[in-house]
Amino acid sequence: MPKFNDLDLKNWKEIDLNMDSLWVIPERKKWWKHSNFYHWNFIPQIPEHFIKRYTKKCWCVFDPFLWSATTAIETESLGRNIVWVDIQEDLIKRANELIWDSIKKYFLVWDSGDIKTRNIIKWYLETQQVEGFDLAILHPPYADIIKFSGEKEDLSNCKTIDEFLDWFEKVLKNTYNLLKGWWYCVIVIWDKYQNSEWIPLGFKCMERWQKIWFKLKSIIVKNMEWNRWKYFKTLFKPIEKEEIEVPKEIKLLTEKRWEAKENKDFATADKLRDELLQKWWKVLDKKEGY
Ligand SMILES: C[S@@+](CC[C@H](N)C(=O)[O-])C[C@H]1O[C@@H](n2cnc3c(N)ncnc32)[C@H](O)[C@@H]1O
Repeated sequence: MPKFNDLDLKNWKEIDLNMDSLWVIPERKKWWKHSNFYHWNFIPQIPEHFIKRYTKKCWCVFDPFLWSATTAIETESLGRNIVWVDIQEDLIKRANELIWDSIKKYFLVWDSGDIKTRNIIKWYLETQQVEGFDLAILHPPYADIIKFSGEKEDLSNCKTIDEFLDWFEKVLKNTYNLLKGWWYCVIVIWDKYQNSEWIPLGFKCMERWQKIWFKLKSIIVKNMEWNRWKYFKTLFKPIEKEEIEVPKEIKLLTEKRWEAKENKDFATADKLRDELLQKWWKVLDKKEGY
């Protein structure tokens, strides 16, 4: 098998990649073109890691679930080429403006599970005299936990888990057919909690994956060290600001954050929001204020 990255394996101890099966990540990488505007995107460290580990410069990555273009931005910064697909046209347009022509890019507004998508991309790869993708990174909706659009082909609009899995399997089949024979496919997914029951979406997707000829190489669990949102989701009960005594320090930070937002200084606003979260305060923005 040919070498599949640009890492200096002779000096493997110096390689700055976490090879463990548990990733504890202190903080989301916020830089360059990454935007927090699109919630529910994954942290840039995920695609960064796999692109460095499984591709060389100018090789080609496939992202069938674009959303905020996290993977595309990382491929651009690392000098790899990319093909992306999403069901939402606006996202595709945005990504096309965001990602410059310093890398080769190709995109489609279509259902990633449709056979047409596979055929069009195959045709594109042939025009580029490329045999197939070197790496695919799939970050599908977590069934219906978050609705991404009103499109009927959107996986987040599936009515049941089985419907979701059947559809996702179609995406996997397309991906399998577009990858070079021995290359890598990464799935990033979360489980679901419904009617007091844990639904292991990750394992269920993995079964479909193995069913269609992929070999499982590893399962990695990621923990964002101080992602308090997960605590808030269980502990947080909305309270009107008049109802409680808000400490002076918190009031000040909140006002400063609002001011930064008004001045469109989003970097400072984000920093202040994070500072508030560290102090266990979450501010909910409304049209007329907070
Ligand atoms: C979890 S998001 C991907 C997030 C992305 N990794 C990021 O960091 O921004 C899922 C995306 O899949 C798209 N999607 C859902 N069903 C689809 C389908 N059948 N074909 C193509 N895209 C689809 C949604 O529109 C959404 O943009």
